[in-house]
Amino acid sequence: MNVNGKAYKTIWINKDDEKLVQIIDQRPLPFEFVIEDIRTVDEMARAIREMHLRGAGLIGVAAAMGMYLAALNADPDNFDADIKRFAEQLNATRPTAANLKWGIDRQLSAISAGNSITEKIAIAKNTAENTAEEDEVSARKIGEYGVKLIEEIASEKDGPVNILTHCNAGWLAFADFGSATAPIYTAFEKGIDVHVWVDETRPRNQGARLTAWELKQHGVPHTIIADNTGGHLMQHNMVDIIFVGADRVSYTGDVANKIGTYLKALAAKDNGVPFYVTFPSSTFDWEIEDGVADIPIEQRDAAEVTCIRGRDVEDGSLRVVNITPEGSPAANYAFDVTPRKLITGLISERGICAADKYEVLKLYPEKK
Ligand code: MRU
Repeated sequence: MNVNGKAYKTIWINKDDEKLVQIIDQRPLPFEFVIEDIRTVDEMARAIREMHLRGAGLIGVAAAMGMYLAALNADPDNFDADIKRFAEQLNATRPTAANLKWGIDRQLSAISAGNSITEKIAIAKNTAENTAEEDEVSARKIGEYGVKLIEEIASEKDGPVNILTHCNAGWLAFADFGSATAPIYTAFEKGIDVHVWVDETRPRNQGARLTAWELKQHGVPHTIIADNTGGHLMQHNMVDIIFVGADRVSYTGDVANKIGTYLKALAAKDNGVPFYVTFPSSTFDWEIEDGVADIPIEQRDAAEVTCIRGRDVEDGSLRVVNITPEGSPAANYAFDVTPRKLITGLISERGICAADKYEVLKLYPEKK
């Protein structure tokens, strides 16, 4: 997608220096656009853990890129043990997104097929690049399936189709194009009149900082709202459809996504607003049956709740300020699980299906 008119991916291997992985550092956005160099597994693990990059799809691609760096940096005399250790290090960075382990496991099985270290490194590079490419292809297919829902609504009303989204499941959260934003960008490219309600998404404000930034860069009409606004908008017919992303989806259709998603789904159910979850197949967890009980929920630093970062309106400097009474404890659950009964449909690169294990398995017969 475009940044100041120039096309970017969120992660790539540098063409002139193939031992260098580069990422868009999401932390300073929307105020500064920074590219970060990553050469070691330690640096990639830190980038994932400390959210220089984030978003389930991108975490999966970063894991695959991290394993390419692992192959480059492993001691030739201790190669297999080093690869295993690096895989464990990456796997421990964030608990909820299923894509992390998926990206690592894919590399482990690919690398093990190489007959020499040179061949293993070449395989790891190929796999990392393929993982990024496939992530983007999936996003574009999600866009093609999802846009049909927007077209249907557009054909039945005057004025823009109002779409609500939560957190950032945009192109910054994937290699490119996004999941929840994919139907939106596809509709926009087709000339359909769309308008996006962007939940700010406390505590890290991925909606206000990232989704709004990327929609603005792309010229898509949008309005940022405080997280608690969605219910009111839905009661007054100001939301036609909701698209959110996912960090882990049980094969039965329960969805872990950014904290607050569940409350939007409850309000959507009460107001008859269609609620769709968009994600690549790499986000499925084929083991978990009861998502509410068994999907691991990351708890992050309380400072994300007690402090806020932004630009000083007077002197323009970037600052972190405290917003709570000193000493008041804070809790920071990063995700919640929306049970399948609240979900209208799941959209992956395989198509749209009900959030129900029989319907999911029809799209994925090889998992039966
Ligand atoms: O904590 P984050 O920013 O990594 O949260 C994950 C997400 O990006 C969202 O939950 C998103 O909606 C999932 S789709 C990539």
